[in-house]
Amino acid sequence: MAETGGLFGAEIRDEFQLSKELVHLNHGSFGSVPRSVYEARLERMKELEICPDDWFRYNFVPLVKKGSETVSKLIGSSSSENVVFVENATGGVTAALRSLGLKMQPKAGLLVTGLSYEAIRHTAHKVCEIEGHFVLHTINLDPPYKDKFEVVQRYRDYLSSHSDIHVAIVDHITSPSTLLLPVKEIVSVCHEFGVAVIIDGAHAPGQVEINVEDINAEFYTGNLHKWFFCPRGCAFLHVRSDQKDIIRPVIASSFYHKGFPEEFLTQGTRDNTPFTVVPQAMSFYERLGGIAGIHAYCVPLLKWAADMMSERLGEPLIAAPSDMVPPYMRVVRFPEILQGDRTKAHGIKAQTILRYQYNTTACIDVITGELWLRLSCAVYNKREDYERLAEALLDLKNHPEKLD
Ligand SMILES: Cc1ncc(COP(=O)(O)O)c(C=O)c1O
Repeated sequence: MAETGGLFGAEIRDEFQLSKELVHLNHGSFGSVPRSVYEARLERMKELEICPDDWFRYNFVPLVKKGSETVSKLIGSSSSENVVFVENATGGVTAALRSLGLKMQPKAGLLVTGLSYEAIRHTAHKVCEIEGHFVLHTINLDPPYKDKFEVVQRYRDYLSSHSDIHVAIVDHITSPSTLLLPVKEIVSVCHEFGVAVIIDGAHAPGQVEINVEDINAEFYTGNLHKWFFCPRGCAFLHVRSDQKDIIRPVIASSFYHKGFPEEFLTQGTRDNTPFTVVPQAMSFYERLGGIAGIHAYCVPLLKWAADMMSERLGEPLIAAPSDMVPPYMRVVRFPEILQGDRTKAHGIKAQTILRYQYNTTACIDVITGELWLRLSCAVYNKREDYERLAEALLDLKNHPEKLD
């Protein structure tokens, strides 16, 4: 495996503003913005400051529309008119869920999974318990599975015995458990049972090929600020053509009643500059060879890193069939001696010690009652980063009292 291919690893680290001392192995949580995109965004912010009236009254709309065209190309949408910007995947799921809730009979069933992201579970809970739109159901997707069809079968079994379910939120890539779900097949089963689907693709753009037409979910939302090099606060919502009449933004603002997609252009006054630099993020992505170029570097590096970490810690990787392993994230069980009371709070404590005593970032969270460590692999990572994290963890294993 080439450790650096000129465009990756140490060679590209300077294009990111990450601290030189830091071993950053948690790209998955908040991303990191390359200088070219960061500077393009600063230019837009300056332009805005020179005359906010010009920006908000005249200038931003064509720039945001250009951004939607770029997203549309990235996700295989047949029309950029089906794509709007939201600030994050949570916002995309919320808009879709509330809009579907208004259309459904009261108390229709809403299906999330036991592996759904915490913020999305909270969103679902709020829409069910406080706003009263749905009744919440949770399907158990805990691994192991022998293949991806077992996951699809779990959906089929669950929906066969719960005819009240009308909406499902399905992750494209689960977090923190890092499983690539067979979304196309799950959508197809859901549709057989008359269930509308919102895909939570928070981790998918830039990490896996997305073809929203092929997946065919009613709604697909994804973050561009994780794996697609955009500034934070940049996500999209793709709305299938037949859902355009029902989708409404979360915030009714000045463009309300202008219909879709215009209604989403304003959500009160906000910093919309991230949406305008998606074309620059696309240029950076293409410079690295697009998804094929980035896979060629990151997939073998992450495989090596995950195997090395598992062997050195003497802990397993999460059990996943090979076609359910996402390209840039993998989890290994946190060492037994450091598990503490196996709570999220203990995981956060461990993350904090890794950050401030060992200068490394990684994500530690609870999956099926135990703590697991998520490794990310970004274009600027290199073998030495994972070796430094392994050394830190081995040292921590020798000093478990640090976590008391
Ligand atoms: C699967 C999944 N869904 C939703 C989110 C929420 O993303 P955001 O905080 O950008 O709304 C995340 C964040 O990591 C995630 O991993």
